[in-house]
Amino acid sequence: MGEKLIEVKNLKKYFSSGIFRKSYVKAVDGVSFEIRKGETFALVGESGCGKSTVGRCTLRLVEPTSGEVYFKGIDILGLNRELRDLRRKMQIIFQDADGSLNPRMRILELLVEPLRVHGLLNGRGMAEALRLLELVNLTPDLLGRYPHELSGGQRQRVGIARAITLNPEFIVADEPAASLDLSVQAQMLDLMKRLQGEFGMGYLFISHNVNIVRLMAERIAVMYLGKFVEVGDTRKIFNGAAHPYTQALLSAVPTTDPSARQNRIVLEGEIPSPINPPSGCRFHPRCPEAKAVCSEVEPALQDTGSGHLVACHFAS
Ligand SMILES: Nc1ncnc2c1ncn2[C@@H]1O[C@H](COP(=O)(O)OP(=O)(O)OP(=O)(O)O)[C@@H](O)[C@H]1O
Ligand SMILES: [Mg+2]
Repeated sequence: MGEKLIEVKNLKKYFSSGIFRKSYVKAVDGVSFEIRKGETFALVGESGCGKSTVGRCTLRLVEPTSGEVYFKGIDILGLNRELRDLRRKMQIIFQDADGSLNPRMRILELLVEPLRVHGLLNGRGMAEALRLLELVNLTPDLLGRYPHELSGGQRQRVGIARAITLNPEFIVADEPAASLDLSVQAQMLDLMKRLQGEFGMGYLFISHNVNIVRLMAERIAVMYLGKFVEVGDTRKIFNGAAHPYTQALLSAVPTTDPSARQNRIVLEGEIPSPINPPSGCRFHPRCPEAKAVCSEVEPALQDTGSGHLVACHFAS
């Protein structure tokens, strides 16, 4: 196993809710994880469970309410001015490159902007832009265009190129291909894997799509209402999910296998509000296997063996 790149301990992010005074959206409520060099660790879960907030807090783009975040052993929540330098080493790729690329900048300017911001341009802008274009399989004729003059897939490649301009060691990829059609999505994921193979960065990969997570990540964390309910090796979890929520999530994956379709677990009810999460196990109101204890006692996230963590009183 590679060296430890990211370590997050008991991270919490409560947003104060504007409408109900003194109430908080518990977007992330105590998660811990590690990512090693060259590893892809994925967060998966339904919309609103807190995946993006974990990603943003890990880069300190959003200030956590409490917890610890270390990048190669450096406590990034304790940094002030030094954080700017460290930012070079930690980047983010967004779902929607449209929203993250300045529409008034040409592709050339967009590609070299990160170098300029960090005072690293030194007259090598064009050479650098050409190197980046080649890395992400784009042609030099795009350099003079504006973002709206590119296809969605091309824009996403520009977003990826910008993220790697400063040779980062860690990248948060927040639903990096979700807005693209399937074939372009596959190309984008291949590209991310190839760049990881070449440069060895660690990825925190965020997706609600379990099929994509299965392809991309060595380890995954399944999130429900701001908490991890199951963490472990991707293969192990896909071969035998232990938490009822993970089982339901995996059983909902579209399949052509008729027996799998019969075994589909349909979750009852809506996702509860993160402002006032259910007592005990947060999943109990929707859990097909809930017993009395589940509404009273919160199950701890426990190691069931070789790093497979599960938070359930009755994990199978
Ligand atoms: N700036 C904010 N202010 C208040 N609440 C927020 C803010 N950002 C996120 N939230 C809330 O925190 C919770 C988690 O949001 P988050 O964006 O992390 O979820 P997500 O898992 O990434 O969802 P999706 O799959 O839809 O992207 C949600 O209830 C959301 O409404
Ligand atoms: Mg999100």
